[in-house]
Amino acid sequence: MEFREVVRRRRMVRRYDDRPVDPAVVDRMLEHAIRAPSAGFSQGWGFLVLDSRADVDRFWAATAQDPDTTSSWLEGMRTAPVVIVPLSSKRAYLDRYAEDDKGWTDRDENRWPVPYWDIDTGMAALLILQTAVDEGLGACFFGIPPDRFGSFRAGFGVPDDYTPIGAITVGHRVPDTGTRGSPGRRTRKPVDEVTHRGTWRG
Ligand SMILES: Cc1cc2nc3c(=O)[nH]c(=O)nc-3n(C[C@H](O)[C@H](O)[C@H](O)COP(=O)(O)O)c2cc1C
Repeated sequence: MEFREVVRRRRMVRRYDDRPVDPAVVDRMLEHAIRAPSAGFSQGWGFLVLDSRADVDRFWAATAQDPDTTSSWLEGMRTAPVVIVPLSSKRAYLDRYAEDDKGWTDRDENRWPVPYWDIDTGMAALLILQTAVDEGLGACFFGIPPDRFGSFRAGFGVPDDYTPIGAITVGHRVPDTGTRGSPGRRTRKPVDEVTHRGTWRG
């Protein structure tokens, strides 16, 4: 698929049919994810791949706000055969930038105007979303409630210095069903409204 077509077609998909995802496609998503840029080439990311029904069910049990309350969102998202959780490590960046060529040995967090660890992992997540489209699949990036981080970490043996920036469901899309999410209520802002050429005002 042409790159511009991949970009244009990508929308979050929140319900999937019962076809499995080819493991080779998941591998390709991860191969693409690690091509993302990262500050200082720190690569302070990690990806937890859950591709069996049992593991995916454990994911929802650990992370859903209230797994016993069925919402149409949760019902749709649970149909995904694969969940990939991208995690970021602040420590990896503090370690990397304390090396000789960077020299930030004080490990002062005020040096970081924005959290590059989350930015870089987010860029990797976008490559996963785009690869899904390129492979004819659907995917959705969504947040894990902060009060579920503990049960998520405990359930999957995730170390404290890795934070899930969200999670991604992957599967064969069911067109135009399930929760549409915010785009059902909002429209995309046009380029001219969000772009400021030469100066912000005017
Ligand atoms: C950081 C981030 C968090 C998001 N969290 C959720 C979420 O918790 N649940 C959900 O259904 N969609 C979530 N989304 C998807 C957005 O709702 C969606 O990207 C936006 O409405 C634009 O729609 P589109 O991606 O289909 O073009 C999230 C997207 C991002 C980038």
